[in-house]
Amino acid sequence: MAATQVSHVYPMGTQLDARGRLQVGGCDVIELANEFGTPAYVVAEDDLRARARAFRAAMAARHDDFDVLFASKAFPCTAAFRVMAEEDLGCDVASGGELHLALRGGMQPARIHLHGNAKSDDELRLARDAGVGYVVIDALDEIDRLARVVGAGPPQRVLVRVTPGIKPSTHDFISTGQLDSKFGLAVDDARVAIELVQDSDALELAGLHVHLGSQIFELEPFHRAVEAISHLGDFGTYNLGGGLGVAYTAGDEPPSIESYVQAKVAAVNEVLGPGKRIVIEPGRALVANAGITVYSVISVKRGLSTYVAVDGGMSDNLRPMLYGSVYEATIADRVGTGGELCHVAGKHCESGDVIVHDVHLHAPRPGDVLVTPVTGAYGHAMANNYNGVPRPPVIFCRDGDARAVVRRETFDDLARREHP
Ligand code: LLP
Repeated sequence: MAATQVSHVYPMGTQLDARGRLQVGGCDVIELANEFGTPAYVVAEDDLRARARAFRAAMAARHDDFDVLFASKAFPCTAAFRVMAEEDLGCDVASGGELHLALRGGMQPARIHLHGNAKSDDELRLARDAGVGYVVIDALDEIDRLARVVGAGPPQRVLVRVTPGIKPSTHDFISTGQLDSKFGLAVDDARVAIELVQDSDALELAGLHVHLGSQIFELEPFHRAVEAISHLGDFGTYNLGGGLGVAYTAGDEPPSIESYVQAKVAAVNEVLGPGKRIVIEPGRALVANAGITVYSVISVKRGLSTYVAVDGGMSDNLRPMLYGSVYEATIADRVGTGGELCHVAGKHCESGDVIVHDVHLHAPRPGDVLVTPVTGAYGHAMANNYNGVPRPPVIFCRDGDARAVVRRETFDDLARREHP
């Protein structure tokens, strides 16, 4: 094997031991597979904490009045909310379910922002009852509905979400800031929304929200976004969304957390002036690289190509199928460059269920433990039960200790909602 270095896309602190076996969060990945079964999401808790601190430190070094929110859709589980709350982050939630988990994880309601292009009355009521700090208005007809929910109580603070007409270069499915978007309000409609909110006794306009999309590698669109919303008036709070891209493979070079924060803070200070409250809501960049998925190799089929089939697939990682996302893979005790060109196939009844195309693996064979890195964001979040496959557990590792923060689903769980 040529190299023993682990690619930087793995969680911070990932190492190979003297036998060349992968260690994450101080835990031996093969032992984790034996203890918790496969597939499993394994998360290095220190990595989550380090990135949360890096975001806060980057903001604190540049601006006095700010908040960093965990965009919880990337990894909505109670333990993740708890870690982020302990690291002094707020969060955004995009549904009543995420709100429920956020509160369970100890998030301060006042630091929660509620999103959603189709918030139901029930979700608005839930947010209101919980004392959620900000509701992000996404549609004109939501204003009246929220005002009715608030009634004669103290006014609800809101932000108006603006779609600035800017499309960053990312996959169409995860781009939201372009002109024709189901999210937010185009600039002219935002103007109307601002007036409606200002006229309402039930609502208090704190400022504006803008989110361009996800997995973004350029910083310049953020400046243009702030310019685009600058003509709507002068407000106290600007939530500039998330979107910072991450490295999925060793060749990817996303901007650093510092330069991303610098770009957003500079845009606000230059375009809108000093003294604004700046809120950012990173999701992927907080959690993606902290997580790996651990599979067992079930079969190896050598034909025109070599298909290494594992015990998971599109039920635990939809991203390759939905967005054509590219991942790395390695055998947990034979890490390194070189080896045989393979496809890592999932177990689902669908030809498109291939997790990684064209990856080199060292002599893969049934029984091997195979790992795909960078599954901490939108993996657990988008897991599903296709083919009746129970969803994997989430295992947090730290200093050599491992604990299941989400257990594996059982067959009984699959039948739980069904009538006999
Ligand atoms: N704020 C808002 C309003 C959002 O809609 C999102 C992501 C974020 C923040 C966080 O963006 P991030 O920092 O994670 O880029 N399922 C897709 C990603 C969808 C992102 C949706 N919104 C994927 O797996 O790539």
